[in-house]
Amino acid sequence: MTRRAGALLATLGVLGCGATGEPSQGATGSDTAPTQTAAPGVGAPGIGDPDFPLDGNGGYDVAHYALRIGYVPARRQLDGEATIRATATQPLSRFNLDLHGFEIGAVSVDGAAATFTREGDELSVTPARPLADGAEFAVRIAYSGKPQPVRGSSNLGTYGFIPTADGAFVTCEPNGAKTWFPANDHPADKATFDFEITVPSGVTALANGELVSRKPAADGGTTFTWRESHPMVTYLATATMGRFTLREGKTAGGIRNLAAVDPRFSDALGDLYKRSGEITDHWTTVFGRYPFSSTGGVVDDFTAGYALENQTKPMYGGFEPDQSIIAHELAHQWFGNSLSIERWEDLWLNEGFATYAEWMWSEHSGGTSAEERFQSAYSRPASDPIWSYPPGDAQPDDLFNESVYIRGGMALHALRKEIGDGTFFKLLKTWAAEHEHGTVTTEQFTALAERLSGKQLDTLFDVWLFKTGRPAV
Ligand code: TRP
Ligand code: ZN
Repeated sequence: MTRRAGALLATLGVLGCGATGEPSQGATGSDTAPTQTAAPGVGAPGIGDPDFPLDGNGGYDVAHYALRIGYVPARRQLDGEATIRATATQPLSRFNLDLHGFEIGAVSVDGAAATFTREGDELSVTPARPLADGAEFAVRIAYSGKPQPVRGSSNLGTYGFIPTADGAFVTCEPNGAKTWFPANDHPADKATFDFEITVPSGVTALANGELVSRKPAADGGTTFTWRESHPMVTYLATATMGRFTLREGKTAGGIRNLAAVDPRFSDALGDLYKRSGEITDHWTTVFGRYPFSSTGGVVDDFTAGYALENQTKPMYGGFEPDQSIIAHELAHQWFGNSLSIERWEDLWLNEGFATYAEWMWSEHSGGTSAEERFQSAYSRPASDPIWSYPPGDAQPDDLFNESVYIRGGMALHALRKEIGDGTFFKLLKTWAAEHEHGTVTTEQFTALAERLSGKQLDTLFDVWLFKTGRPAV
């Protein structure tokens, strides 16, 4: 589901994608961009994000991923079969998917054997017969091997499918979905997902959305079937596995709630369940209706030290989350997950909003006010790195810079003071409602802020998002 397929294709035409000569950034892996320009009938190797030229792919739009995965933690072995339903957005004699590692067993398109080649993380598929523009097709890929997470450069750390002692911790932002399934691995193409995950007995597999069934598998293991029926970006998909203790129910507001913790964190289960429910309900009063079928959270015994807002199941890596980080990850269910960014440079639309949500939660729950949080960030010295990094243009080699979070949050507070609480909170709800399950850009947000406030806000956004130096207040 690509919102602006036309615009993205236009971008590809102009830049020739991967033909710009830009090397891909460390975070995308170590491939160099292929030198060929996408020829007629050949899908481009990237979706058209100038900062990540090989992420995603051109020429088609995915509607649905059906993933069948068997994983044996003791051997770190994954056997996968992905069936991807998509629509061609141009004539295609060949198209690409993103996949990192693995042996490929067989590839077929619409049931007919297809040939393929691989170069770095690009898998190029040539169907037996070319696909016409607008054709719906299903590509099936059987693959197996030991998953290799991405070791990102700079502040990204390791992400993707990360094996743990009892399973795997699967957190994929920005482009680690390709470490466990073939994907159009870029947030500009959302799709629905089915997961059928078979693990040894005693192991629980947690994926996005709802548990459809849990059945004994032929070889003595267990098969967990999960379904995410709302559009989802690839980096939010998870198949986290291990020993887990679960608590299930509903929030006071009636939203399904599932908390799961590794036995090492069993003391945290009650609090995680209760807080996740309470905070989700509160955000519905601030951001509007909850966009997905359930909420909750997962604490795994893997010391990542970070959390990721995996759709319906935020994941906390090896620590007991406090209210603030729960408020952050659950705010992402609206900002980042329901509304997803079309290009990585707009990441502040996720992280600035989620950071500001922490400040709003603090204010709501009787802690420090958002104004105090703003003032304390504002008082950072002029030499602080957040003043030299404009958050509205997130840098591919330093995507998750503190500025994208903190100065992004400050931009929202500055906006709130400029347009007043009434308009600001109406803006948050309108933004979330108008783009529910869509993809968004900064320009769309600033245009909506101007429309609702009736104010010219160019200077405000410019100094907070796009200029270096501490803005005057
Ligand atoms: N989006 C996460 C947050 O701020 C941070 C993050 C980025 C992350 N990349 C990641 C977490 C990879 C886990 C894995 O909430
Ligand atoms: Zn975040």
